Amino acid sequence: MDSFLIKGGTPLHGEVTISGAKNATLPIMAATLLTDEPCVIRNVPNLSDVRFMGKILESLGAEVSFHDHTLKVRAKKIKGVGDYDLIRKMRGSICILGPLLGRLGKAQVSLPGGCVIGARPIDLHLKGVKALGANVKIEHGYIIATARKLHGDSVFMGGRSGPTVLGTANVLMAAALAEGVTVIESAACEPEVTDLANFLVAMGAKIHGIGSPTLTITGVKKLHGAEHEVIPDRIEAATFAIAAAATNGEVTIKRARVDHLHAVIDKLVECGVKIERNNGSLKICRNGRLKPVDITTLPYSGYPTDAQAQMMALMAVTPGISIITERVFESRFMHVSELARLGADISIEGPSAIVKGGKPLSGAPIMASDLRASAALVIAGLAAKGMTQVNRVYHIDRGYENIDEKLRKLGGRVERIEES
Ligand code: UD1
Repeated sequence: MDSFLIKGGTPLHGEVTISGAKNATLPIMAATLLTDEPCVIRNVPNLSDVRFMGKILESLGAEVSFHDHTLKVRAKKIKGVGDYDLIRKMRGSICILGPLLGRLGKAQVSLPGGCVIGARPIDLHLKGVKALGANVKIEHGYIIATARKLHGDSVFMGGRSGPTVLGTANVLMAAALAEGVTVIESAACEPEVTDLANFLVAMGAKIHGIGSPTLTITGVKKLHGAEHEVIPDRIEAATFAIAAAATNGEVTIKRARVDHLHAVIDKLVECGVKIERNNGSLKICRNGRLKPVDITTLPYSGYPTDAQAQMMALMAVTPGISIITERVFESRFMHVSELARLGADISIEGPSAIVKGGKPLSGAPIMASDLRASAALVIAGLAAKGMTQVNRVYHIDRGYENIDEKLRKLGGRVERIEES
């Protein structure tokens, strides 16, 4: 397993270009199963999760090619049974449920397990497809869903922690080919859901209310092939912005969608970071001493849970007390004990982490536990004195394209140690 060796203490300087969004790409890839015609997706990040999703599509019978950030998929003839071992390894693969059901009227998808950030139930996904007329049973670790015909209905997708992103995606994709009108209430409004909806519209779907919590879908008989360009990754942009602030650097983030980053920008400005917005790019630099800020993660357009860990790394080096409250996932604080190994003073009280920031961090060997936690550890390592070795960086490779290379271009001293 590869690790990163980071020599901290160098401010990041220069320009970085943001890749396409992983969380938009995965459901869009699943949506290509809705048509037997070719689809072309551009600005696709070259990530292990994306390549993995490509394998899942191939295991269902689709032809997939991926070169130079362009993905071509033709799902001419597909089957409804996903490879158990492939699917159970990636939670995001649950989003093939809706398209398989919409196209074939049957889907057998392995039940995704929990993960380090919480239980990750799928009750809302199942509630959604049941509302469209699917019969669903769970057998031998599989979700088995069948429907002679899907029909439109009204479905409320809000849960205990707000709307579900991939649950909304699943119902949206199934409803695109259902008979009649489906109204999704309390739909997730994340830009990745909007990007999927725009791709579906390009395929011939009829969707109203895109970007809002009420999506109205009028089913069509057939969808056709389409071309689409994936939106830039707002979490990657947030991560580089936070890394620039944490290292006292000056970084221009190119291809950032400012309109997707309001909550993060707002918090960074409150913290004392100077941000200039120019035509699709953001320039980040420190404006003197930073101030602690309290953060609560919320569904979009609130502060994203996927940028919570990174902000905690920044707060750990910011003098004063900040409270970071996680409202989307139940136990998303795996990074706390690893940040503590670098000298951070953080305690957990229920859903909140209390960060007593400002103590200098010092490098140590630490372990990445999940994708966004790994990004936080890299930021902390860049801000710490001395050498930090972040182990198990395969987590970070799932969601950040060439992050070590991009950081090196900004002057970050990050070396990848490949393990044979
Ligand atoms: C997606 C993102 C993930 C991000 C998350 C929240 C992808 C591949 N992943 O995950 O990076 O952190 O959105 O922005 O796009 N829930 C239920 N029942 C369900 C489904 C979800 O109770 O059936 C709960 C979850 O436990 C969680 C909350 O709803 O507390 C939000 O989860 P959800 O939006 O579904 O996350 P994902 O779509 O899996």
